[in-house]
Amino acid sequence: MTCDGAAEPPPASPRLPFDFPRPDPMTDQTPDVATPVPNYDGPRRILSGIQASGALHLGNYLGALKRFVELQDQGAPVYVFVADMHAITVWQDPAKLTAQTREIAAAYLASGLDPEKAIIFPQSAVRAHAELAWIFNCVARLGWLDRMTQFKEKSGKHKERSSVGLYTYPVLQAADILLYKATEVPVGEDQKQHLELTRDIAAKFNNDFGVPGFFPVPEPIIQGPATRVMSLRDGAAKMSKSDPSDNSRINLTDDADTIASKIKKAKTDPEPLPETLDGLNERPEAKNLVAIYAALAGLTREQVIAQFGGQGFGAFKPALADLAVSSLAPVTAEMRRLMDDPAEIDRVLKAGAERAAEGADPVVDEVKKIVGFWRA
Ligand code: TYM
Repeated sequence: MTCDGAAEPPPASPRLPFDFPRPDPMTDQTPDVATPVPNYDGPRRILSGIQASGALHLGNYLGALKRFVELQDQGAPVYVFVADMHAITVWQDPAKLTAQTREIAAAYLASGLDPEKAIIFPQSAVRAHAELAWIFNCVARLGWLDRMTQFKEKSGKHKERSSVGLYTYPVLQAADILLYKATEVPVGEDQKQHLELTRDIAAKFNNDFGVPGFFPVPEPIIQGPATRVMSLRDGAAKMSKSDPSDNSRINLTDDADTIASKIKKAKTDPEPLPETLDGLNERPEAKNLVAIYAALAGLTREQVIAQFGGQGFGAFKPALADLAVSSLAPVTAEMRRLMDDPAEIDRVLKAGAERAAEGADPVVDEVKKIVGFWRA
């Protein structure tokens, strides 16, 4: 008892700066990311993935693919996978899924990922993804998943008819990342909430099982001028493969004429481009085209405005179309060449899957031990 009669607080755990074990980890909603646990002190690792669910567009290219290529030369291992397990959370024609998987792999290679540097693999080829996802399903809380906006958007009015996989999809994403103890995850802005959930799962696992610093709390890398590329038809909507209008997006498989025509038809306003970046506020379509130009040219948006400020879209759109065609044409051509040689893609994916499993299997084995699963 303390002098005012209150019960003594429980003694601090010798291992952790918080009580362990938690009174009931299963009903505890607190992710505890903020708790100052000993930091992960393992090496830097970069990881990301793209779903194998059909056509890639300029948003994927600028928000993700181009960024992966920039990161592969930083000396840290880079894991880049094709998220085919995520793809089947909505219906995928089995006759097409393998080709879609190869197409994403072709896009990785055509964008400049070097299989000697980056580990490129199909998610489903490394069993540990599914194993860790199940364990994380028992760590994540329903309350956390209920807040995921992407599930709400994707399930729409038919929540009860959606697959269970679509609901628990962000838990699989956390497993993808933490299986390799990735510390940095380059993604577009739409993945931010999923990364926050991953951070919560990492912290709760470390906390619940009394293994501080076992999993890193990974950082989302959402950088550059094009973290959220918008539709060419509506500056308020994200460029997306699910938009019914093909004119809303530039597909990585579009030919030069199609790209130029889509940019020509892109929605704009009648004003010339402003002289300052602030002048783009309240002009979402103009802002989007400037961001796309900047990302394709490797410039900042300020530099684009310095170059084109005061000019109308009659001048800017053809310049953007030329830039888009000259940047994307080599990627598209190389993708086509690779798609005609599936054996080459398969060699990369097989070797990548073997290397990925070498990294993932020991982690999942350690997790099983931590959780208390029987092991021979
Ligand atoms: P996915 O397949 O929808 O998109 C792949 C990547 O492209 C980015 N992106 C965009 N970036 C800018 N503007 C846009 N309009 C745009 N649209 C898409 C996405 O942010 C993403 O980086 N859940 C993920 C796949 C995934 C994953 C992972 C990613 C599964 N496991 C682990 C990272 C780590 C997804 O559906 O991305």
